[in-house]
Amino acid sequence: MQTTAAQTLIDIRKLNLYYGNFHALKSVTMDIPEKAITAFIGPSGCGKSTLLRTLNRMNDMIPGTRIDGTITIGGADIYSKEVDVETLRKKVGMVFQQPNPFPKSIYDNVAYGPRLHGTHSKSKLDELVETSLRQAALWDEVKDHLKRSALSLSGGQQQRLCIARAIAVGPDVLLMDEATSALDPISTLKIEELAQELKDKYTIVMVTHNMHQAARVSNQTVFFLNGEVVEFSDTEKLFSNPRDQRTEDYISGRFG
Ligand SMILES: Nc1ncnc2c1ncn2[C@@H]1O[C@H](COP(=O)(O)OP(=O)(O)OP(=O)(O)O)[C@@H](O)[C@H]1O
Ligand SMILES: [Mg+2]
Repeated sequence: MQTTAAQTLIDIRKLNLYYGNFHALKSVTMDIPEKAITAFIGPSGCGKSTLLRTLNRMNDMIPGTRIDGTITIGGADIYSKEVDVETLRKKVGMVFQQPNPFPKSIYDNVAYGPRLHGTHSKSKLDELVETSLRQAALWDEVKDHLKRSALSLSGGQQQRLCIARAIAVGPDVLLMDEATSALDPISTLKIEELAQELKDKYTIVMVTHNMHQAARVSNQTVFFLNGEVVEFSDTEKLFSNPRDQRTEDYISGRFG
């Protein structure tokens, strides 16, 4: 695993998030390095998904949500008034817990984003569909039936298709919220291997309930408790020699 000091891509400073009166994220500060995998762990309800959603402004869609503090990606403030949220979401793609392909063909799922953003040439789309499916390690399984419904794929294949769909619009960041928790162990391993390959090209932030997964695949791990960052360390260090007693209690299964 890579431990060299990488360049920061996502810079979060004193971020507070409120759902109405509920203070869900408390002065969260962290530097997320580029082209590495950062894992968020912590007990249910500690704010992992909430923080992930702030990174592509999915929280904008939840009424009553308020934030203060700053998040910059590649130096640009993603909450500034000039930011076009659609463009931001193109740059910061998201994969969810339940695979959610559109009820369209495999091809049209991957071509959806590029078409939406103005690519209509058949040869360009063909090329994008192929490279995205190759990067998502799905091409060989689907290349002979691209016109088939995406819903005919297995859950693990659907999840890789969702990754291909996110990749097709040229993101810098991939957010994964428990993207393997609905999958069988073999599909899970495939996605973990895929994430390892993708981190050479993309900055990956993954939420996982599975500490073994965080330990296996991530370069950095962040442990949250009640909306606060308790510890942010190199994964190896966090699991072998945590700084904070609460981290130690959590990873040794004493709570959560
Ligand atoms: N839309 C919402 N409105 C109000 N409160 C919310 C909303 N979404 C989340 N919360 C609350 O914010 C806190 C953090 O929730 P969040 O979903 O980020 O936790 P999590 O760490 O992802 O948990 P899990 O591991 O169960 O997915 C929880 O107390 C939750 O009840
Ligand atoms: Mg969650």
